[in-house]
Amino acid sequence: MKVLLTGSDRGQLHWELLRSKPEDVELIVPEPRLDITDESAVADCVRDKSPDVIINAAAYTAVDKAETDSDNAFAVNEHAVEYLAGAAKTHRAHLIHVSTDFVFGECKATPLLPDSPVDPVSVYGKSKLAGEQKLRTILPDDSLLVRTAWVYSSHGNNFVKTMLRLMKERGEVGVIADQIGTPTWANSLARALWQGAVKRATGVMHWTDAGAASWYDFAQAIMEEGLALGLLDKPATVNPLRTDQYPTPAARPSYSVLELTSTWDALDLQAAHWRVELRNMMRELT
Ligand SMILES: NC(=O)c1ccc[n+]([C@@H]2O[C@H](COP(=O)([O-])OP(=O)(O)OC[C@H]3O[C@@H](n4cnc5c(N)ncnc54)[C@H](OP(=O)(O)O)[C@@H]3O)[C@@H](O)[C@H]2O)c1
Repeated sequence: MKVLLTGSDRGQLHWELLRSKPEDVELIVPEPRLDITDESAVADCVRDKSPDVIINAAAYTAVDKAETDSDNAFAVNEHAVEYLAGAAKTHRAHLIHVSTDFVFGECKATPLLPDSPVDPVSVYGKSKLAGEQKLRTILPDDSLLVRTAWVYSSHGNNFVKTMLRLMKERGEVGVIADQIGTPTWANSLARALWQGAVKRATGVMHWTDAGAASWYDFAQAIMEEGLALGLLDKPATVNPLRTDQYPTPAARPSYSVLELTSTWDALDLQAAHWRVELRNMMRELT
């Protein structure tokens, strides 16, 4: 199987896809990076490389910046998906695309199904939803859309690494306790995407690690694992905050736990609990 991977190794998911690639996959990673917002470059690349599968690991992910940088967010998260889907259709490639829990808005606290109503509350969420819609319209039968959430990796910048740094520097952090979701190791997401590629799975799926947490719970777990692994030499205090005590440019849903079991059945793969995957990732920081 020939797979074209977008993005660069600065991206968390891209990097994890590189190191978890199944042996029998022939991986194509254009050098220099393919700018997916360049429609003709995308068309030429897919025509020349003729992949069986395209995995789109590229995205505009700066959630707060997107509030004032909407054109760029939509260029990468909507229009580029349109170009990739169009090229995949022309050359009969299967396209795997990744989206976000932020396509959901305020909802009651019940895990969200792949067909639950969407209603994004941020520019980032709206741009990702627009990309989903382009994908589902252009390539409904030969695409896999995987929504995920709260992604971190030992590579790149993310909440886990920021928390460890602040805990070391300050000994005390304030973290939002009234937003609930699921932390997800990008490596676990990468393994699920490879399984989707091997099975040529289609439709809309949800993949996060298992369970649920607030950002506060997540930070507390990072502190405990950090101490146990020797990444912190003394405990830090984690103080719970309400969302209104930590205003950010972009609004975020207060509950965005994704329902996973239909994905586990379809991929024949079950996620581990987020706390187990957090420990696995943090071992890599030692
Ligand atoms: N991070 C999260 O918490 C989170 C949560 C939910 C969903 N997701 C979704 O999960 C996926 C992976 O996210 P991630 O955490 O791996 O993101 P990331 O670490 O921010 O990486 C983004 C990647 O996109 C590339 N990129 C940006 N603009 C591009 C362009 N015009 N052409 C080609 N590549 C471009 C970047 O390359 P350069 O660095 O070279 O520009 C980088 O490799 C995304 O679809 C994201 O929306 C992420």
